[in-house]
Amino acid sequence: MPTILEEYIQKHPGSARRQQESNDMFPGGVTHDNRYVTPFPIYVTHGEGPLKWDVDGNEYVDYVSGHGALILGHSHPAIASAVANQVGRGTHLGANTEEELRWGRAIKHLMPSVEKMRCHSSGTEATLMALRMARAYTGKSKVVKFDEHFHGWHDYAVSVAGRTVPGVPEATSSSMVVIPPDLGEVEKVLSQDDDIAAVILEPTGAHYGQLPINVPQFLSDLRRITRSHGVLLIMDEVVTGFRIHPGGAQGKYGIDPDLTTMAKIVAGGLPGGVVGGRADIIDMIAFKDDPDWNARSRIAHPGTFNANPLSAAAGATCLEMIANEPINQRADEAAAALKKGLNDTFSRLEVAGHAHGISSLVHMTLEDCSCDREVCDMPHPEIKAAGAPAKTIALKRAFMNEGIDLMGRGSFIVSSTHTEKEVGRTLEAFEGVLSKMRAEGVV
Ligand SMILES: Cc1ncc(COP(=O)(O)O)c(C=O)c1O
Repeated sequence: MPTILEEYIQKHPGSARRQQESNDMFPGGVTHDNRYVTPFPIYVTHGEGPLKWDVDGNEYVDYVSGHGALILGHSHPAIASAVANQVGRGTHLGANTEEELRWGRAIKHLMPSVEKMRCHSSGTEATLMALRMARAYTGKSKVVKFDEHFHGWHDYAVSVAGRTVPGVPEATSSSMVVIPPDLGEVEKVLSQDDDIAAVILEPTGAHYGQLPINVPQFLSDLRRITRSHGVLLIMDEVVTGFRIHPGGAQGKYGIDPDLTTMAKIVAGGLPGGVVGGRADIIDMIAFKDDPDWNARSRIAHPGTFNANPLSAAAGATCLEMIANEPINQRADEAAAALKKGLNDTFSRLEVAGHAHGISSLVHMTLEDCSCDREVCDMPHPEIKAAGAPAKTIALKRAFMNEGIDLMGRGSFIVSSTHTEKEVGRTLEAFEGVLSKMRAEGVV
């Protein structure tokens, strides 16, 4: 019987061929770090609903879901027609549009903390602007960020505790205070340093909940602490926004952030990002009838593709559907069935591991735990150790051999188009995956 790796190579000759050209063209042979897979990644031709197909004709149940951007699955007819209609009317009109008004209305309707907003082209741009706004508004220079919480790839977002990051000036890194997600630490930093403008976080924990925080308690305590110190709270809802609840994590848990960053679902699966929140902070971008303000105090914000009409049309369509149809409920139900099935399979095959996660985000950890399967309370170093690359790479490859594509480190992002059928197919595949991994001594 071929090994997991041999089977992967056998099943993907077309992808292997393309990778040779890619290796000479793109660093690492990929165009996004998360797509880096050894010995080579797959090349995908198209997707529909919960499925996608590669150049070798292999079909996959897709749990990458456009890196979390797709809650309606691939090429949803409503999104396809909204975008096609807009393409026919112009891809960039160099002016305000009805579509951006419709998009803004849909966002405000779902997320009442958003009094005003500005649109960007990505989540990275959104978090960059949120930090700048917080600093400009408060007149303070530092921002607290939690270890491993991901906010994109700009110079501030990539800061890590205790070391420099290649290409990032020391002065930039030192304006970010990177601490463990521990409220005692937050309290200590905010009490000792009066130059903190804001705290930013992923509201279900690092990597969309792979390293969970104790919600909702952590969030409400953080809100109380930041407020008591006059420090702004930025909720980065790039993944959780409109996914874990129509109103995002803030809607699910009743938290009122000062600023929210959004991307992915907000743009209906097209490129886009948004910073929204308190009008007095967002208005740091506003022009005033005051030349001195405009020249010296205002935050400038050009951007060729800000509120691009294609993204606006797709985003508005997607968010209106979320507001009016049980989109989140469908995704959550499929994810709950998947999570239960994964946990049952771990038990039945007596393999150490469990699945946990909130709403339509499901994370597998190859280690036993007695958590409630929503918010895993295993210490983060243990979760990380269980997700060692030797295990998670084999897991991903073995799943792909069975026609299932999942996120790195064993996470599933479920859409409203995943049904019992796809979940059943995934669970059937999982039995084979675990058996093969066991045969190879990986688990
Ligand atoms: C929580 C979070 N913030 C920000 C970003 C950056 O968004 P983008 O990839 O659109 O730049 C991501 C991307 O995955 C994210 O997960």
